[in-house]
Amino acid sequence: MGKRNLISVVDMKDEWPALVDLGIKLKKERGHHGDPLKGKTLAMMFEKPSTRTRTSFDVAITELGGHALYLDVSKMQMGHGETVEDTARVLSRFVHGIMYRAFDYKMMDKLGEWATVPVISGLDNLEHPCQALADMITIKEKFGNFHGRKLVFLGDGNNVCNSLLYACAIMGMDMVACCPATRMPNAEILYNATQIANANGSKIIASHDPQEACKDADVLYTDTWISMGDTISVEEAVKLFQMYQINDDLLKIAKPDCIVMHCLPAHRGQEITNDVIESPHSVVFDEAENRLHAQKAVLYTLMKD
Ligand code: CP
Ligand code: NVA
Repeated sequence: MGKRNLISVVDMKDEWPALVDLGIKLKKERGHHGDPLKGKTLAMMFEKPSTRTRTSFDVAITELGGHALYLDVSKMQMGHGETVEDTARVLSRFVHGIMYRAFDYKMMDKLGEWATVPVISGLDNLEHPCQALADMITIKEKFGNFHGRKLVFLGDGNNVCNSLLYACAIMGMDMVACCPATRMPNAEILYNATQIANANGSKIIASHDPQEACKDADVLYTDTWISMGDTISVEEAVKLFQMYQINDDLLKIAKPDCIVMHCLPAHRGQEITNDVIESPHSVVFDEAENRLHAQKAVLYTLMKD
């Protein structure tokens, strides 16, 4: 089989359940992996800041016996006029995989097309697939299953929401994307995810009504109201999204054992209150830790010989 990319969740649709299980297995086996990626180098290209993605990929490949190389795109020739097509072909002669955090999904797609080694998205403006994998690992750990469970995403229908739509549909979990009409998830992804969910016996729906959406929810999920690269002001965001904030009132509507998730970084007092993120319902730090185990599952699957 030729090289494969993970740019959209659906790039690894058929393997997604196995990736979730592999992440959980590797979590249990931490410290005892052997060196399955010995001698392999992962280039990590960043156009935007990162704490979790950068650290978890670096630690993940190191613990699998390989090595990570951090590349700040603004300091690369690609940040100064070299084409992405040339960058992809040059890096492919040096390294065994490329992780890329990009502003524009079109650049991500081009890198994926021209690189002869696997390209893994560390987020672009359309998706954040590795986050969605860590999130599915977290949900499986907390509940043990997906069927009949309901995740409600509240706020901006952004990259994290888009990847969750695919991930929930693939795992057979119900999902409500509860967002303002002007900030709905990507229409094509919403449609595709609905089709996948139908085939898997689950439901994906869009809503603008948080009170209604949160009824019987197993998971409440939110993300920043202003993603990296967005130009909306805080004042505009507050006006648009305030009613979608995860707070005690919304939490009371969900199931009593509902978990609260956030990909982080969080903006307490905006998309989520301090009380809720610090409450026993919140699993945000387990979720952050699971980025490490998710990255290992992806790196192992795409980069081992
Ligand atoms: N959740 C996430 O991707 O965090 P970073 O921006 O810190 O990588
Ligand atoms: N939606 C956020 C996710 C950050 C991890 C952003 O794109 O900035």
